[in-house]
Formats: sequence, structure tokens, C-alpha cells
Amino acid sequence: MSTVYLNGQFVPKGEAMISVEDRGFLFGDGIYEVVRVVEGKLFTWDAHATRMAQGLDGLRIDRTGTDSATLKAVCERLIADNGLASGEGTIYLQVSRGAATRVHHFPPAGTKTTIYAAPAAFKVNTAMRTHGAKGITHPDQRWARCDLKTVNLLGPVLARQAAAEAGAYEAIMHRDGMITEGAATNCFAVIDGVLRTAPLTNYILPGITRGILLEIVRAHGMRCEERPFTLRELPFVDELFVCGTTTDVQAIVTLDEKPIGHGAVGPITATLRDALAARLYAH
Ligand code: PDD
Repeated sequence: MSTVYLNGQFVPKGEAMISVEDRGFLFGDGIYEVVRVVEGKLFTWDAHATRMAQGLDGLRIDRTGTDSATLKAVCERLIADNGLASGEGTIYLQVSRGAATRVHHFPPAGTKTTIYAAPAAFKVNTAMRTHGAKGITHPDQRWARCDLKTVNLLGPVLARQAAAEAGAYEAIMHRDGMITEGAATNCFAVIDGVLRTAPLTNYILPGITRGILLEIVRAHGMRCEERPFTLRELPFVDELFVCGTTTDVQAIVTLDEKPIGHGAVGPITATLRDALAARLYAH
């Protein structure tokens, strides 16, 4: 059984217990991160730690015990104790506002947050990365603070379920006719040879992978506009891909059962997929 971290203790997963009054459980009142581990090393740790701090501040959750160095040490111990020093894995981190009598407003000052971290094994779906995946379109039914990585994920849960029922990997979500992002990924299109992705607003998560890809785009002298694209444009884009910590760069080659472009992984997507892989495995 794997070892997890809960509120200062490293314990077997089956022994980790939280209160039924935990606000993460009752309200989805918390923030999470998923960090990739490659050959025992945390990939882009600083960016994840920064986003988690911003998310906690965004929800006004006390950050005690969640500074970057402390959480990094927790993750490193989990990597060592769970055999993740080689191969690939992920670490899931979650901080909730803690356990207290159920009232909607914040619990009394001094209520301790619940800090949880757990490892998971991870294996890249090489065939899907190479040949592309199916996607569907789905309404974006989330709240208006999608920039915060909250544990309440009902919009993505329903969207991903719709994708799963359609035999697809990801749901590309749209709000007011604009493409926002995937259920658990950011989304890029290639339109007339130029990359396009939604700008950073409160309606999308500022993805770490998205940020790395924009760096790669600049380094390769490629063009990318951070400008919305529409649901109407989507069937006619040349290339479409989604990206994220466990998704890397994943081409979407059919959308709602119709081919995107030639129905195969496009050249710009392949370049970015390979450049990201080079960074991931550069250790
Ligand atoms: N999801 N957009 C949403 C809504 C996400 O949930 C995620 C990540 C991303 C990509 O962000 P990043 O590149 O920082 O992983 C974009 C994680 C992996 C998850 O929920 O499991």
C-alpha cells in the first residue's frame, strides 16, 4: 500500500482519515495540484507551488504549512517512500479549509487546514500521443473562477463523462460560443498556420504546460496568438491539441466524429509534442 501525507504525518493510504466535516468533502472548499514526477524529479515544481499559493489566496485559505520548500520536501519523501525514484509518476496535493461545523461562511479563526499529498503511478499512452485522440465539444458549465484550481470539479466531471460515453479522450468546452479549454487540459488550435489559444482570463486555468508551450513556441520562432477561437471555427481548424501535466501535448484528430484537418497528427502539434517530451525527459 502506498504511503501518503496527511497533516504532518506519513501514513499508509488506508490509515489516512479525514473528518466527515472537512470542508473539502462538504463544499469542495479547497485547492489542488497535480505534479509530474520523471525519474524521481518533480517537473516544474516552482510553477505548481506558485499556482497553489495563488489559489489558496484566491479562496482566502490559510497558507500555513504550504510553503514551497515544505511541500517540496513532502513530495520528495513520497517519491522516495513509494518507489518513484525511477520511471514516471504523479503527486496529488490538496489543501482544504479544514473541518468545522457546517456553515457556508468561513470557519472560526484558527481552524486548521487539511493538507494531503499522495503519489500515483503514471504511464504515458504512447499510442494515443503518436496517433491522436478523439474529442467532443461540450458546454462549459463551470463557475466564473476557473483560474483557481479548486477541488470542486463538477463541470469537468460531467464533461469528461460525456467524452468517455462517446469513446473520446477529452471534452473541448465552450462558453458563449468561445472555446475555453478542455475538461482537464488547455486547448490550442492551428488556424492558417498560426497557433491560437484562449487568453488567460478567469474562464481558464493558467496551465503550467500551456506556459511551457508558449516558451517553446517563442524559442522555435513559431507564431501563437492568445486570442479566443470560436465553436464555429473549430471544425475548420488545421490542427487541434490539448495539453496538461498528465496529457503532455495530445493531438485531437477527430472532433464530434468528424476529422480535424486530415484526421492525423499535424506538423505543428508534432513539433510541440516532441519539444515538450525533450524537456520532460531532459533530466
Ligand atoms: N488538470 N485546465 C484544466 C481545467 C485542468 O484541470 C488542467 C490540469 C489543465 C492543465 O494544467 P497543467 O498544465 O498545469 O496541468 C488545464 C489536472 C492535471 C487534473 O485535474 O488532473
